[in-house]
Amino acid sequence: MKRLSVLLVVVLTLLTLAVAADHNVTTAQEEFKVVVIGKSVHPYWSNVEKGVRAAAKDLGLKDEQAIFWVPPTEDVAAQIQTMETYIAQGVTGIAIAPSDPNALEPVMKKAAEAGIIVTTLDTPPVEGSVSLVYIGTDNYQAGFIAGQIMAELLPEGGKVGIGRGSDTALNALQRTQGFLDAIEGTGIEPLEPVNDREDAARALELANSVLSANPDLAGAFGVYAYNGPAWATAIKEAGRVGKTRLVCFDATTDIINGIKEGVIDATVAQREFDMGYKSVELIFKIATKGQRAAFREMGVVDGKIDTGVDVITAATLKDYEAALDAKGIPHEWTTEGWEPPQ
Ligand code: BGC
Repeated sequence: MKRLSVLLVVVLTLLTLAVAADHNVTTAQEEFKVVVIGKSVHPYWSNVEKGVRAAAKDLGLKDEQAIFWVPPTEDVAAQIQTMETYIAQGVTGIAIAPSDPNALEPVMKKAAEAGIIVTTLDTPPVEGSVSLVYIGTDNYQAGFIAGQIMAELLPEGGKVGIGRGSDTALNALQRTQGFLDAIEGTGIEPLEPVNDREDAARALELANSVLSANPDLAGAFGVYAYNGPAWATAIKEAGRVGKTRLVCFDATTDIINGIKEGVIDATVAQREFDMGYKSVELIFKIATKGQRAAFREMGVVDGKIDTGVDVITAATLKDYEAALDAKGIPHEWTTEGWEPPQ
């Protein structure tokens, strides 16, 4: 009997410790506040924001309980400053897309030490980060897919330009690496990536100058959401549609228009609406149910929720639209009145 009660005490103590170690299990709904910090003003990030708003609505949160913020262009200092502001407010959780994961880690650590739930989205944190979960694309794999498509488009090889919006964000670096690995050993010669720091006007200038320095450019790879459209404009202006093949990322309206026009051959669409939605949902579940239950319910595997990608070409665009509609994911473009070329 005595042994049984000792055992019971031990079990109860362990259970109490486990619950205490679990994150903010007791946050009341009305005290909850989550902040999602993105990387730049762009329709891609507006889609993330739509996901944030939809999750807040589904969870019964007020607008001011789910904040979304982005700087105009890549701005590491502004991301750090915004983190500081919300740490001082003592919010429940922060989900951030770190434009420079090394530079952001100390302030993310400060947030975690203050008891704030810290997660990342869209672009991963450093190895061993305090970020509990990364929600987004497997960027290396997605870049590899883009490289495979380019290799199929260019069986004869040739020079390929690479435009990207960051030299520090891991999503840009991993996509580039995946792409380079996929084209290795083919006749494709990648040029040095050009960096516009998430400035769309600069992206266009750079695309124009790469094209005028390489008038025989066989292909172009757009790493970030506005890089595809920047290349598309440059390719059209240079009269090279169909001669410079274009593979890019994302599925904002300008990219879909590029596919419909035939200037963009393929794009790797991310699921950014889900990144925003799931960031809010995960932090809410951690705060109200505890980390273990939240991870189980949300399917966190190895500290990640892989949101997946969709490859879109003219041949698959209509199916992609139907899939978005079936999931109730909003999009500003339509394929109505358009048919893929035979
Ligand atoms: C990337 C984001 C980036 C956005 C707009 C997307 O492809 O995942 O990190 O901020 O493009 O530049």
